[in-house]
Amino acid sequence: MHKIAVIPGDGTGPEVIKEGIKVIDAAAKKFNIKLEYTYFDFGGERYLKTGETLPDSAIAELKKFEAIYLGAIGHPDVKPGILETGILLKARFALDQYINLRPVKLYPGVETPLKDKVPGDIDFVVIRENSGGIYTGIGGATRVGTPDEIATQVMVYDRRTVDRCLRYSFELKKKRNAKNPAYAAKPITLVHKRNVLMHAGDLWYRAFEEMGERDYPEIKRDYNHIDAANMWFVKNPEWYDVIVTENLFGDIITDLGAMIQGGLGVASGGNINPDKGGISMFEPMGGSAPKYTGKNVINPMATIGAGMMMLDTLGESQAAAAIETAMAAAMLKMKSQAAGRMGYSTTEVGDMVAKAI
Ligand code: IPM
Ligand code: MN
Repeated sequence: MHKIAVIPGDGTGPEVIKEGIKVIDAAAKKFNIKLEYTYFDFGGERYLKTGETLPDSAIAELKKFEAIYLGAIGHPDVKPGILETGILLKARFALDQYINLRPVKLYPGVETPLKDKVPGDIDFVVIRENSGGIYTGIGGATRVGTPDEIATQVMVYDRRTVDRCLRYSFELKKKRNAKNPAYAAKPITLVHKRNVLMHAGDLWYRAFEEMGERDYPEIKRDYNHIDAANMWFVKNPEWYDVIVTENLFGDIITDLGAMIQGGLGVASGGNINPDKGGISMFEPMGGSAPKYTGKNVINPMATIGAGMMMLDTLGESQAAAAIETAMAAAMLKMKSQAAGRMGYSTTEVGDMVAKAI
């Protein structure tokens, strides 16, 4: 029995979560997996009514579950930043979800803006460190509002935080190498900016080299500066298999990743705490898309993909693989992965994937 906390959230969140659950249930039935869902109403509506985002009591409550399935957070009537930091970042930090896993995979029939690139060319994962860096909020401001205003935001990293992220990344690379010789031929790539960020960049680089050399000598290693990685994502995405990077660089580069794999309609992510008893949270990368709310036109594929990642993380790899196969079959039939242009409605896409399972 897997106990899942479901946070449908705002805007189109509830619509896509419904299709995600439909698909997860189809896979659960086929592979005889028992799941129990508990719904929570955290999001913009609740905040506007109660002033609460994700209170500490909610964190305590969420700790009773194995995983969290999240739709989208973001409300047009709430000032930007409140829900993002109060709900999304709060959950990531409070539950120590230190890995942000973002697969970038182009499926057959899905359109990429990259000319001449085919599915095998775009098939890698980005591991974004999810607990440190500028996101820790360390820094401050003084003389605010005067011509002498000073503000700092510090990219803070300690060796333990870097090492645990690298450990997960090397282990994932080892698994991928064993699964597919095409993956094994490629390196694990560290992305940073060590030509300028000499302190933090040097910590990451040395930790990467030391762990790789000592514990994973059979795995090829490479290093890219973040600006160059942006360029290669567009020009030569086929060079990549596993990329590991710090928090803000990972945030930026995974939006680029989402675009080259066919857009936010198909991009999923997992906020993972891989430690024993860790509670992970799975979400589509896109936002609440308020303008599409209630129209049955939003693409649920990214949320379905997040459900697949959730089952995989819960150890249900067969069910996850079946969902992926069904997703691929459905994407082949869809006209586009963009909202309103799919050739199918939101519910029809969910039905199609569930039926293929
Ligand atoms: C993401 C988002 C969040 C982030 C925002 C909404 C806080 O952009 O999940 O990538 O910056 O991590
Ligand atoms: Mn982002």
